Amino acid sequence: MLKWGIAGTGQIARAFALALNRAENCRACGVAGRRAEKAAAFAAEHRVERAYSSVEQMCADPEIEAVYVCPPHPFHAEWARCALKQGKHVLCEKPMALGMEEIHEMQRLAREQGVLLLEGYMYRCHPQTAKLVELLKAGAVGRVRSVEGAFSFRSEFNPASRLFDPALGGGAIWDIGGYPLSMANLVAAASSGNAPVRPERLEAVGVWAENGIDLLSTALVCYPAGIVGRLTVSLTSTEDNSLRIYGEGGKIVVPDPWVCDRVNPPQGRILLTRSGEAAEVIEVPCDRTSFTLEAEYFASLAAQGKTDAVFPVMSAAETVLQNELLQEWERKAAGK
Ligand SMILES: NC(=O)c1ccc[n+]([C@@H]2O[C@H](COP(=O)([O-])OP(=O)(O)OC[C@H]3O[C@@H](n4cnc5c(N)ncnc54)[C@H](OP(=O)(O)O)[C@@H]3O)[C@@H](O)[C@H]2O)c1
Repeated sequence: MLKWGIAGTGQIARAFALALNRAENCRACGVAGRRAEKAAAFAAEHRVERAYSSVEQMCADPEIEAVYVCPPHPFHAEWARCALKQGKHVLCEKPMALGMEEIHEMQRLAREQGVLLLEGYMYRCHPQTAKLVELLKAGAVGRVRSVEGAFSFRSEFNPASRLFDPALGGGAIWDIGGYPLSMANLVAAASSGNAPVRPERLEAVGVWAENGIDLLSTALVCYPAGIVGRLTVSLTSTEDNSLRIYGEGGKIVVPDPWVCDRVNPPQGRILLTRSGEAAEVIEVPCDRTSFTLEAEYFASLAAQGKTDAVFPVMSAAETVLQNELLQEWERKAAGK
């Protein structure tokens, strides 16, 4: 049983507490936030054993073995460092940090302490993603030529919300761009040898709000194997969020690639159309949410003394690539 502390009391902290309560090899031992009363109420509501009045206090508790870091993006690095310095394993929400220096520092601390540090892209732990990788590797659609993905939803502009507040890391690219980008990276890696593949080129356009955050953006990436990615994020409109992969011998459509349902275990479904044939529906049953699968996977790695994830879960090397590319996406979309 991995004994977890949750660093944050917001909406994703709630989803993760629910996930821990359903995970076989995890225990929700602690929760900490910036307000003691909120942490205490969270603990009572989500069957978490103890509440702390600060993240520092929770990280100093020798019983806590792993910390789930989930404040707004600009605070990820500081809270994760606090946990890593105390020798805790860390599952850090995406994006791991907003600056590469911070990510390198976090990874260095994790190496020094011999602990696990992973970035939380939970869809990578769902069996639907494993099935997709299996199909690509088996050449189900032949040589892959393009991948098209989006993560988008309409959210009313609210300058106080972390989604729109520049001081809280607001903007579409940093909040949700990592999904289609990491999916394109996954397709490129699965089509070669699983190791992260850096695109040769990334171009992007975007639309900015008056307060300086990006609302809507599309990036184009081109990988050395001749795979093109068309990636879209939006906070202004809900677009087609399915994943489309086109190969020389057909196409794959994944209607719900991000499997984000936090309460009901999302069932996997992949539509495979080989050229000249009718579409085949591949069901991928699942009895856990992606967050429970992520927590269980993390706990199993920690129990084995492993300090990195195995593809298709995001490894340390892929986290570096992913965040460098997010920076480039933001820069190019801003015309810099
Ligand atoms: N993997 C996923 O599917 C997924 C989904 C959603 C979000 N996330 C990630 O999780 C992180 C948190 O997102 P969320 O939607 O849970 O946010 P949220 O609901 O706004 O919660 C943020 C938490 O951080 C705390 N916090 C600490 N310092 C803060 C500060 N200076 N300003 C504002 N809040 C501060 C908040 O404290 P108070 O409670 O005291 O306000 C709250 O507990 C983000 O980095 C996001 O990328 C991941």
